[in-house]
Amino acid sequence: MDKLVIKGGRRLSGSITASGSKNTSLPIIAATLLTGDGAFTLHHIPDLKDIMTFTQLLHHLGAETTFKGNTLHVSSGNVESLQAPYELVKKMRASIYVLGPMLARFGHARVSLPGGCAFGPRPIDLHLMAMEKLGATITIQTGFIEARAKGGKLRGGHIDFPISSVGATGNALMAAVLAKGTTTISNAAAEPEIETLCKFLVAMGATIRGTGTTELEIDGSNSLKAIEFYNVFDRIEAGTLLAAAAITGGEITVNGVEPEQMKNVLKKFIHAGCSIETTKNSITLKSPDKLIATDVTAKPYPAFPTDMQAQWIALMTQADGTSHITDKVYHERFNHIPELNRLGAQIEIHKNQAIVHGPQRLSGTKVMSTDLRASASLVLAGLVAEGTTEVLRVYHLDRGYEKIETKLNSLGADIIREKYNEFE
Ligand code: UD1
Repeated sequence: MDKLVIKGGRRLSGSITASGSKNTSLPIIAATLLTGDGAFTLHHIPDLKDIMTFTQLLHHLGAETTFKGNTLHVSSGNVESLQAPYELVKKMRASIYVLGPMLARFGHARVSLPGGCAFGPRPIDLHLMAMEKLGATITIQTGFIEARAKGGKLRGGHIDFPISSVGATGNALMAAVLAKGTTTISNAAAEPEIETLCKFLVAMGATIRGTGTTELEIDGSNSLKAIEFYNVFDRIEAGTLLAAAAITGGEITVNGVEPEQMKNVLKKFIHAGCSIETTKNSITLKSPDKLIATDVTAKPYPAFPTDMQAQWIALMTQADGTSHITDKVYHERFNHIPELNRLGAQIEIHKNQAIVHGPQRLSGTKVMSTDLRASASLVLAGLVAEGTTEVLRVYHLDRGYEKIETKLNSLGADIIREKYNEFE
């Protein structure tokens, strides 16, 4: 296994370009299953474990894929298998994204149940409810979701989500674009990842009204076509890099971003005392002499994202005062806290809120990654901890951050990747 060995205390400076968004890549790659007509060319796809897992899944279904230099070519003309097996689905919950497009195109899909997750239950009931509203019959048997469209074709319907779900909205959209008739989706997720998926589907020939809002209306098409598409930047990676600069007292510019999409994250950096300057496609952060304790509450977009909560907690360990970080999306997403406390942080958990008492001097030791964003928060803490921090099980980090140590080292960090044997 790999670990990152971080020598703390280096101030980050310089400029860096954001990678393509992982969480946008996954639904748009799934959407390539909607048509066998032609080949897709997808640019600015990050070279990540999760992307590899997803392309493996497409291969298994019969699609042809090639990935080189952040460009992915996909042809789904030869898709034959309608079954997404446990061995691939268990590696990544986002595999559930194949359900909607397969059901819409073939009228039938079998997808392994994804199972639990490191930070609490992550049900898929809303995905299934959405498919049923479009006329699918769903049965769960031997660990598989068996979905069949009545009469072989989905029909438009009204889907009203009781809570906002990015994944279920994405699946509903991909199913509705090939359903017969019109579908309305209320309380749809309005995350930029869904907005981009809508634009992708429209470019394929779909008709979608309300893109970027929580009320979507889709007129089903008879067929869609393959397209060439340039993926958007990763707003969570960009936020993580800004937090890395802020925690080290540094100054960096992140290029290739759309600051508007990160408005509520940038506001929090400003509240914490950082100076933020933006252009149309860049963000420059200058750290203050002293960070100020700043509360955040993670909620659906446009609020502060749950995917930045762990990194914010790491940052707040260095801020002056007590901060409250509440997660209203995932109430149990706090695996990073015991590990941060092992580095010397003083953080308590009360229900879905972390209370961070800062500033605390952190000192390096071995810490364990437990999930993607938790790992990012440990890397941030390692950047400021005295001595050496070893972040173990970095495969979690590799699922979602492209060349993270190369990027941070180019800004002045001192991180090396080493192999280790977990059982020694
Ligand atoms: C996506 C992101 C993930 C992010 C999350 C919230 C991807 C690949 N992952 O995950 O990084 O943290 O959005 O922004 O894009 N829920 C249900 N039933 C369902 C589905 C979800 O109750 O069927 C609940 C979840 O438990 C959670 C909330 O809805 O409390 C939001 O989850 P959701 O937006 O669906 O997250 P994902 O799409 O899985």
